[in-house]
Amino acid sequence: MKNIIEPFRIKMTEPLKLTQPEQRLDALHNAHHNVFLLDAEDCCIDLLTDSGTGAMSTQQWAALMLGDESYAGSRSWKKFEQTVKEITGFKHIFPTHQGRAAESILAQTQLKPGDVVPNNSHFDTTRANVEFVGAEALNLPCKEAMEPALEVPFKGNMDVDALERCIQERGAENIPFCMVTITNNTGGGQPVSLDNIREIKQVLEKHQIPLIIDACRFAENAYFIHERESGYDNKPLLDIAQEIFSYADGATMSCKKDGLANIGGFLACNDDGWAEAFRNLLILREGFHTYGGLAGRDLEVIAVGLKEALELDYQKYRHATVEYLSQKLLKKNIPLVRPAGGHAVFLDAKAFLPHIAPLELPGIALVNALYIEGGVRAVELGTVMFGRRDENGLEHPASLELVRLAFPRRVYTQSHFDYLAEVIENVWQQRDRLKGYKILHQPKLLRHFTCSFSLIES
Ligand code: F0G
Repeated sequence: MKNIIEPFRIKMTEPLKLTQPEQRLDALHNAHHNVFLLDAEDCCIDLLTDSGTGAMSTQQWAALMLGDESYAGSRSWKKFEQTVKEITGFKHIFPTHQGRAAESILAQTQLKPGDVVPNNSHFDTTRANVEFVGAEALNLPCKEAMEPALEVPFKGNMDVDALERCIQERGAENIPFCMVTITNNTGGGQPVSLDNIREIKQVLEKHQIPLIIDACRFAENAYFIHERESGYDNKPLLDIAQEIFSYADGATMSCKKDGLANIGGFLACNDDGWAEAFRNLLILREGFHTYGGLAGRDLEVIAVGLKEALELDYQKYRHATVEYLSQKLLKKNIPLVRPAGGHAVFLDAKAFLPHIAPLELPGIALVNALYIEGGVRAVELGTVMFGRRDENGLEHPASLELVRLAFPRRVYTQSHFDYLAEVIENVWQQRDRLKGYKILHQPKLLRHFTCSFSLIES
């Protein structure tokens, strides 16, 4: 069949509030022009994130009732641990309340000021956790990642030559671990090939540097390998995931993505010394090491969700939705990151709004225009999120100005995507009239969440 349908039907609905442009202008004004500060119910189609926003399956809702809320050694923990071990093969598993808690424990136990952490691209919380302990978060994406329109299959890959150079220049003793983020969220949700992971591992092994996978979207990455890497088209996604993790020494995970859960995460490793350090900090910060800040019912839900994320029909449908919107936009020549990412469509705000300079925040201009036009909430991945302020207070723009429309899992239907395409096309028609923004107030870390903006009127 040509039509790929949702491999589920809908048993419960949640109403959407439909608003008028004047109401949205007011709401945005009250939110200081930062969509993170809007009330969610004022967002008709909320594509701010695919994190924790998915719909659970009947199996997951049923599992919820099985939650064993014992403080230590609960049945639910056993199920969680067994599932994570089956998929990842790691010896030590630590539940956390979400991905950044795993990152924080990793950074605080293994990094010191002056250390460097290479990664294909750090997500914002990963970078913040590395920098918070005085280490440097170094992005080494492959060269193709810098060209949004270029169609190559594994644009999430790391530049392995750059990794070698980094080790030579900085010294292996200053690199306590290297990370690979699958899929590469900030680079357009692009996948990393198994070939690349193997090469990275080879380089790291020579220098005895551990490899840590940021596994948030491991199942989507496994699907891309299934579709695009030779020799994997007949392998179940579980086998592919197992092979990915077999090259790693540990992982950080946000189960709010490919755990198909609304909350949760984990940290995993093979090394007993690391595990001891993780356990101590986990108990101090998150909770006893068999629940780690989660309820027993959350552990149950995640154990089911991790497996559902590896179902081929589910991944096929999910990818078809991202590709469906991408193709509609491509037909109108709207600039976007190609190929389509695993969890989102990324608009190229630099090409969409060439008359707005990077320091006048074209990504924010586009995000705000989408909200006013149709109540669609997207997120900027550009200078606000990844730009840098130097010691003299001078702003340096990010290398890409992207706007991400992240797809919550199993939430929106095809007609929502048709509406979305119409909203984006309407904004595209009016693009010459859009104006830039400046930042009025910003906090020191992770500024995009809470900073306020004002429109540049001239
Ligand atoms: N790593 C990656 C690649 C992520 O995308 C995220 C979260 C995290 C780590 C942190 O996980 O939110 O559970 O603490 N990304 C969300 C997003 C927030 O919108 O992309 P967390």
